[in-house]
Amino acid sequence: MLEVRDLDVSYGDFQVVWGIDLTVGPSEVVCILGPNGAGKSSVLNAITGLAPRKASAITFGDADLLRIPTYEIARRGIAHVLERRRLFPTLTVRQNLLLGAYNPDAKRHRAETLAWVETLFPFLEDRHNSPARVLSGGQQQMVAIARGLMSRPRLLMIDEPFLGLSPLMVDEIRTVITRINADGVAILFNEQNVELALSLSHRGYLLESGRVVLTGTGEEMLGSDLVRTVYLGV
Ligand SMILES: Nc1ncnc2c1ncn2[C@@H]1O[C@H](COP(=O)(O)OP(=O)(O)O)[C@@H](O)[C@H]1O
Ligand SMILES: [Mg+2]
Repeated sequence: MLEVRDLDVSYGDFQVVWGIDLTVGPSEVVCILGPNGAGKSSVLNAITGLAPRKASAITFGDADLLRIPTYEIARRGIAHVLERRRLFPTLTVRQNLLLGAYNPDAKRHRAETLAWVETLFPFLEDRHNSPARVLSGGQQQMVAIARGLMSRPRLLMIDEPFLGLSPLMVDEIRTVITRINADGVAILFNEQNVELALSLSHRGYLLESGRVVLTGTGEEMLGSDLVRTVYLGV
């Protein structure tokens, strides 16, 4: 469904991503792993045109993402939840959600999609009138994910969904990612914690200094010497 071939990202003369190949199939959960600065956000941002990119192909279904401007991406079925959530702090929870449904197709199904995201995250309904800024970090992350879902994506990309969250919130986000996927949405997310990420992914890509150093199923990766010695300290 999503196919990235031979992706480079450079900021000016500073190349940070080198020749990455990556795919996400329909209904897959895929993670991009790696330490801080490895290039994870740059890869997601390159897919939606937010980072300077060069690639032999970036396609989503029959759409050529190298030729589609960022503002068109949501209409093509990809939602991108940026790092650090980026909510509108003074707008209410409900207003933040409705802003996710700006494209014409999503707007038409707005009421139905809102009902769906409010079953996924019941607190969205209870707190619909609260300004986003008064919510906890975990709740803000949920609003950000829910806002992405309001565009009715076939692929949801989330940049570090667990960043800075309490263990309880980590569990809630983990459960909800699994439920969103069970409703037929493919998921691509970034994460530094290898064990956490692979526990909810079908496959993963491990980046170091902008290159893929390991890829495979969760089980394959957790069993690899590199992951065991460097990332799990076994
Ligand atoms: N807008 C930018 N301009 C210049 N350098 C950047 C920019 N964004 C990221 N970088 C650099 O690119 C490298 C990879 O960053 P990033 O993709 O954010 O990694 P990660 O998400 O894995 O932490 C880092 O060295 C970072 O400093
Ligand atoms: Mg990042």
